[in-house]
Amino acid sequence: MTNLSPTLPGGTWNLGDLTVSRFGYGAMQLAGPWVMGPPADRSAALAVLRDAVELGITHIDTSDAYGPRITNEIIKEALHPYPVRLNIVTKVGGNRDDQGGWPTAREPDQLRKQIGENLESLGLNTLGLVNLRLGNAEGTVAGSIAESFQALVDMQEQGLIRHLGVSNATPEQVAEAMDIAPIVSVQNMYNLAFRQDDELIDLLNTQGIAYVPFFPLGGFSPLQSAALSAVASRLDTTPMSVALSWLLQRSPNILLIPGTSSPAHLRENIAGAGLRFAVSDIAELNTIGR
Ligand SMILES: NC(=O)c1ccc[n+]([C@@H]2O[C@H](COP(=O)([O-])OP(=O)(O)OC[C@H]3O[C@@H](n4cnc5c(N)ncnc54)[C@H](OP(=O)(O)O)[C@@H]3O)[C@@H](O)[C@H]2O)c1
Repeated sequence: MTNLSPTLPGGTWNLGDLTVSRFGYGAMQLAGPWVMGPPADRSAALAVLRDAVELGITHIDTSDAYGPRITNEIIKEALHPYPVRLNIVTKVGGNRDDQGGWPTAREPDQLRKQIGENLESLGLNTLGLVNLRLGNAEGTVAGSIAESFQALVDMQEQGLIRHLGVSNATPEQVAEAMDIAPIVSVQNMYNLAFRQDDELIDLLNTQGIAYVPFFPLGGFSPLQSAALSAVASRLDTTPMSVALSWLLQRSPNILLIPGTSSPAHLRENIAGAGLRFAVSDIAELNTIGR
């Protein structure tokens, strides 16, 4: 399989010694409804992953909690043995229950089990980047992360993990992690309409740490705003394209992981994410999240 297109919008970023396309792919939508069970169309799920790599994407975000296990198994079926340049980023810190809930699981022995499950379901000997998923399904929750993060550092020292990051983290938790060991990324909720991390993004940029917004298109509730529609219509494009282009332009350390189960949407998102905005467009878009 050939990969690496230099034409993806945004160019590349280095997560430690791993070079990734800033336009990546989020695999959560490949499981069934509400991220439980198998997808309705397994062949489309396989196709979207293969297309992503063919189109030059070298960053796929996943979790063994998606399905659970199903998304990782689809990634392995679609892409294993993995192209050398492909980086699969996973997260630990939560499980799934029978009702589709996301109970936290951040005790050291639970994390060790999840790392083992990710290695197995993805068919890897080492995980390139693992994010410690904090908080809960409602958002961030303050409190020390030392014991959980140290457990991942121990597994990193054992060679099971190459790089570490945190997810759904408060700025204080990001700082606490960095006091324990280097991190290469923070993956938090952020998009045009939800801009709680503006200061954190700028700080991380000065430190060379990636910021990876989840729900870049609004997640389960697609972004909707009059200003977004107005800018999209003026530029003769879609609100999705404006939302992704704005993120790429917002800061060089932002990496995109938009999710889609549709090969057509994948292509549409790549084609649309390279817009350059006029100052007046940015000013109008800035009214959305403030
Ligand atoms: N760390 C965390 O706690 C956390 C939490 C949530 C998500 N994540 C990660 O972040 C990634 C991105 O989040 P997400 O997938 O939930 O949300 P998202 O990227 O904001 O939005 C995905 C939704 O947008 C739709 N979509 C995408 N492109 C479209 C297009 N061109 N036209 C119309 N609809 C389009 C998708 O539907 P179609 O399938 O029909 O295209 C899907 O319903 C996930 O895949 C996951 O890897 C991490």
